[in-house]
Amino acid sequence: MAVLLPGGAGYIGSHTAIELLEAGKDIVIIDDYSNSKPEVLEEIKKITGKTFKSYEMDYRDREKLEKVFEENDIEAVINFAGFKAVGESVAKPLAYYDNNIGGAVIMLETMKKYGVKKFIFSSSATVYGDPEVIPITEECKTGGTTNPYGTTKLFIEQILKDLYTSDNSWDICILRYFNPVGAHESGRIGEEPQGIPNNLMPYIVRVAAGQLEQLSVFGNDYNTPDGTGVRDYIHVVDLAKGHVLALEKLEKEQQGLYIYNLGTGTGYSVLDMVKTFKKATGQKVPYKIAPRRPGDIAACYADPKKAKEELGWEATKTLEDMCRDSWNYIKNRKGE
Ligand code: UFG
Repeated sequence: MAVLLPGGAGYIGSHTAIELLEAGKDIVIIDDYSNSKPEVLEEIKKITGKTFKSYEMDYRDREKLEKVFEENDIEAVINFAGFKAVGESVAKPLAYYDNNIGGAVIMLETMKKYGVKKFIFSSSATVYGDPEVIPITEECKTGGTTNPYGTTKLFIEQILKDLYTSDNSWDICILRYFNPVGAHESGRIGEEPQGIPNNLMPYIVRVAAGQLEQLSVFGNDYNTPDGTGVRDYIHVVDLAKGHVLALEKLEKEQQGLYIYNLGTGTGYSVLDMVKTFKKATGQKVPYKIAPRRPGDIAACYADPKKAKEELGWEATKTLEDMCRDSWNYIKNRKGE
């Protein structure tokens, strides 16, 4: 029995692949390498000392996907094949709806055809929109997404709820990620956005590496302790472990649809991040205060209690670990 990972060569997929292999699971990766590199698969094999099957393909290719289900004994699917750039989604909404929603529907139909009913979905704290209360619990209202990327997450959650209502022999887990950062401690895999990064940590590491001049801090007049935006940054390895525990829950429990926040429960500001980065790596991050970024909210962090109680999952890595590991990965890449 194997776990199928569409998008398994990507940032969160590759870290989850490692944790699954280390937990003794078999995996099969499919990826079209549109936002990842095939070499990542070799790195996963080196880190774990384990091997696995992979297919280079678009996960929306129904014929090829059916072949994957025919050739392998798939037990569950953890779907990492979504596009994830907020700005790009505003410019290319159809590409986002097609890849994220169309792809999820094709995947679920194929699973149904082959009698595979365990599905773990990478959702996002973005489904809470501008949160009514913080820390955010899973019961908080969802909706009010401000870009097509976020809306794809919201719609797929609804599709999964409707699917479960229609047939409660499905076993579904929706994981709402907060802000994943960091890299594997080996420094061999990490996050590598193409072009100029939009997200804070990838931007900071490029400034520290001298590839970008300075960080623009988007707004210092928010209603937060130092005026800059507050987020719940979570180490990607902690996040990856959450998937292993979610899978184990689906394997153990009666069928159900479960939703969990994966965050640390602590919010840090942009300036906290700049200071911690310096402390953890010795690298200075020059910055300037810039206007607010449209669509940003002041503060967003999780109440992660439900995941602790029901999955036995808890984030263990600190902001310093996140900074050190992100930097370590980029430093290794620079030396290549
Ligand atoms: N920020 C800056 N300068 C930058 C980049 C970011 O000051 O160059 C600030 C932002 O204003 C925000 C914080 O750093 O206050 C974090 O911004 P990110 O872009 O790293 O992350 P977001 O919280 O905006 O978005 C992330 C993911 C989305 C996801 C969302 C869910 O990128 O995919 O969390 O809450 F939808």
